[in-house]
Amino acid sequence: MSRSGPVTAPSALPGEVIRRLREAETVCALTGAGVSAESGIPTFRGSEGIWAKYDFRRLATPEGFMSDPCLVWEWYQLRQVEIAKAAPNRAHLALAEMEASLPSFTLVTQNIDGMHRRAGNSRVVELHGNIWRMRCTRDGTVSDIDGPVRDIPPFCACGSLMRPDVVWFGEQLPRAEVERSSEAAASCDLMLVVGTSAVVYPAAALPIIAKNSGALVVEVNAEPTDVSTYSDATLIGPAGTLLPEIWRMMGYPERFMK
Ligand code: OAD
Repeated sequence: MSRSGPVTAPSALPGEVIRRLREAETVCALTGAGVSAESGIPTFRGSEGIWAKYDFRRLATPEGFMSDPCLVWEWYQLRQVEIAKAAPNRAHLALAEMEASLPSFTLVTQNIDGMHRRAGNSRVVELHGNIWRMRCTRDGTVSDIDGPVRDIPPFCACGSLMRPDVVWFGEQLPRAEVERSSEAAASCDLMLVVGTSAVVYPAAALPIIAKNSGALVVEVNAEPTDVSTYSDATLIGPAGTLLPEIWRMMGYPERFMK
């Protein structure tokens, strides 16, 4: 199939891409921070991104945590406050409609904000953990957090320090989630790659797995990325506008999106 250059509206996609979008039954979506940008949650890279303001070595590595757990928890508390105030946007809602309507839909996310579940998705593979959970540094016991943490740092009932249940730089991703996401990528007939710079592995390998397995790979991003070099189509623009448009293009009515 011939590849299309970046376009800004699904209606500008080549007919063959549109046909394959409409025929898709087994869909996998890979999302990154860009899907939550329109909810007011900042992305990581770029001049306005989190890593331009904060030092990831102090805040998002096991070494940073061990040297100053209070600083790390204070930063996660700030992020929890920001995320708690935010609401799912139309990109999240479109992905929830996809799960509700398609024969098979798996959502793989690098985001830790929990917004996909809030929007209604239940088949969510969280590759980098979830900011609404914490984990005992001694025995790995995981507990849910129902709002921004109050006591910093939090301790487990066993007396050990708790850490956010997220994946930091230099850490392994959870094995079960990696397997589920690889299987979904290898078996889908459409992969949507939404709002990720696709520079962090192994998540960035998933669209390549999908492509090599014969899936149609459609990227939605505010700007071109490495994925654009091999995707079948790249749509440039806000995910909150483009995903509902793609959904209509796939032949589905918007049922509960406002
Ligand atoms: P990035 O911040 O690297 O990339 C966000 C992408 O979203 C960029 O390509 C933006 O162009 C795009 N974007 C921004 N607003 C958008 C919008 N409204 N609609 C569509 N696209 C938009 O975030 P991730 O790729 O998610 O890991 O980063 C991957 C991982 O690196 C994160 O999970 C995190 C980070 O460091 C860890 O903390 C381990």
